[in-house]
Amino acid sequence: MSVTELQHPLIEHKLSILRDKKTGTKEFRELIREISTVLCYEAMKDAKLESVEIETPIQKMKTHRLNEDNYAFVPILRAGLGMLEGIVSVIPNAKIGHIGMYRDEETYEPVNYFFKVPKGIEKKEVIILDPMLATGGSAIDAIELLKSKGVKKMKFLCIIAAKEGIKKVSEKYPDVQIYCGHIDEKLNANKYIVPGLGDAGDRIFGTK
Ligand code: PRP
Ligand code: URA
Repeated sequence: MSVTELQHPLIEHKLSILRDKKTGTKEFRELIREISTVLCYEAMKDAKLESVEIETPIQKMKTHRLNEDNYAFVPILRAGLGMLEGIVSVIPNAKIGHIGMYRDEETYEPVNYFFKVPKGIEKKEVIILDPMLATGGSAIDAIELLKSKGVKKMKFLCIIAAKEGIKKVSEKYPDVQIYCGHIDEKLNANKYIVPGLGDAGDRIFGTK
């Protein structure tokens, strides 16, 4: 399976606070931001750098830089917005797109209500952001929408991924690498991740 799970004691520590129902909005947001930054570092491990010549206070040197214009980050609204701050803290010039989607409460199928991506997206590597990969329906629809715009290279970053969602996405799009903080076992009858962290959007925005 094309999935990378962050396996680090500090991530496990942070996730234990994030998952805790006693954790409030402020801390929840901070943790989502922090873990997203680590996911971003992991997902950018294969980034191609460009050669540049600079001058340190000591001497000239040849070194390498990232062309941030080659990347676009696309949060799936609402919850994906919570991950954005952690991303732009390390890639401040990243171009940002938005995909609005919610899961229908009865069918659990995603409903798309907004789509706006940067010009020239088809030439960029696109990194999709959504804290929760549950059934995989929202991720698949987001990937399809981006493919229909000509995007060729995509990655998917999430905080928690359920095995079922990973299987569904990677069977359909084996070329889309998934990066997650943790892989959780299953979904409950309401298609929530178990043990999960509850409703990510509601916890980020304090709506319930
Ligand atoms: C959540 C989550 C994902 C989706 C995952 O969004 O942020 O987008 O569900 O579920 P899936 O893998 O089964 O499609 P939600 O529909 O709750 O919308 P919100 O972000 O506006 O709260
Ligand atoms: N969306 C969430 O916010 N949480 C889940 O567990 C599943 C979907």
